[in-house]
Order: sequence, then C-alpha cells, then structure tokens
Amino acid sequence: MNDLIIAPSILAADLARLGDEVDQVIRAGADWVHFDVMDNHYVPNLSFGPVVCQALRRHGIKAPIDVHLMVSPVDRIIPDFAAAGADLISFHPEASAHVDRSLQLIRDQGCQTGLVFNPATPLDALRYVIDKVDLILLMSVNPGFGGQQFLPVTLEKLREARALIDAQSRPIRLEVDGGVGPDNIEAVVAAGADTVVAGSAIFGQPDYAAVIDTLRQRAAR
Ligand code: DX5
Ligand code: ZN
Repeated sequence: MNDLIIAPSILAADLARLGDEVDQVIRAGADWVHFDVMDNHYVPNLSFGPVVCQALRRHGIKAPIDVHLMVSPVDRIIPDFAAAGADLISFHPEASAHVDRSLQLIRDQGCQTGLVFNPATPLDALRYVIDKVDLILLMSVNPGFGGQQFLPVTLEKLREARALIDAQSRPIRLEVDGGVGPDNIEAVVAAGADTVVAGSAIFGQPDYAAVIDTLRQRAAR
C-alpha cells in the first residue's frame, strides 16, 4: 500500500485568504491541494478555474495541485489547467464524449490522469483505459457541494477498486472524496483508499495540524 496522502479541498477554505490558507494547511502537514472545479452545468454549483490555480502557483505554492474537474465538456479546459500549474487532472467519464482521448490529452500536457466515479456510477469505464489512469477517485457524496454526509456504500466500491488496482503491474492511487474526516478515515483506508480528500473536516477546525495529525493516526490504526 502507498503512503497516505491527505488532500485538503480548498472549497472549504476561507477563499478571501486563499493563498494563506493553502500555505497554512501545507505547513500543517497536508500533501496535496485538492482543487474542485464546478461549472454550474455538470454540477449545480460554480467554483474556480485556471486563473485561481495559476494564482496559487504565483503565490509560491509548491505542493502538487490535484484538479478535480466537475465540468462538461472537459477537453477544452485541460490545457488551461496544465498551463496553470496542475499536477493531476481528474474528470468524470460521463462528462467526456471520448474518455480515452481526454486521458491522452492530460498525459500529452504533462499531467497525471484521474477518472472520477459518482456514487451511482459503476467502475466499468476503467475496463479498457486503466493503463492510461494514474488515479481512481471515488466520490463518497454526490458532487457539487462540500460538507455533505459520507455515503457508506463507498466502502464496498473502494474494495472493488482496490482489487482492480492490485491486479495491475503499475501503481495507481485510490482517492476518496466527500464527507471524510476523523470518524471514518480508518474505514476508508481499511477499504483500500490511499489518498483522502477532506474539506470541511480540516478547514472547519481552527488547528489544521491537530486535525491532520488525528487523521494520520486514525488511518494507521
Ligand atoms: C464535492 C467535492 C469535494 C468536497 C469535499 O463535489 O468534490 O472535494 O469539497 O468536501 P467535504 O470534505 O467537506 O465533503
Ligand atoms: Zn473534489
């Protein structure tokens, strides 16, 4: 199993002070920055785009930026995020007319690829493209909003994805996103997750280092 990666979702940060918030959470021990992109079309909410990603890089953020595209279509925006400093770019297969092409486009731009599965979406889309996927992201809430309740059925799906990954000859990260915090991190890691997104669980607490330490301790139990 890979080392645990903790990726705070900046959707839950104080967006008026975004650069400082990201500095703080990285200093507190976070590994990646989870960057939720919403278009008010694929999901019923609107967040931020490539200019904000570029602003974080210009601010001096060095940590990997994990871009989660909740937009449709996806291809037009991929080169913009690559140019803005994204390291990983993930998208929902339903949001791309040509999943293989979108994955290849992300790779051609020098980024790592991820496919994202909504709670009700089976993992079938992986079948013929898994060799082009660096990360599988399982949504444990319906996408569009932070602060929702974790859907327990995700645990079964994590086990299914873990078995798929373990049958591959190269490493693929398994990320879980939505409603994850100190109360359920042990269960998601036991089910196979090695990369954990947490928004409100981290940014909703005053002491980011304390909550990140708690997450790591509970994940290791
Ligand atoms: C939901 C987003 C998540 C969300 C996580 O559409 O993809 O990343 O912001 O936030 P919490 O941890 O608060 O559920
Ligand atoms: Zn996300």
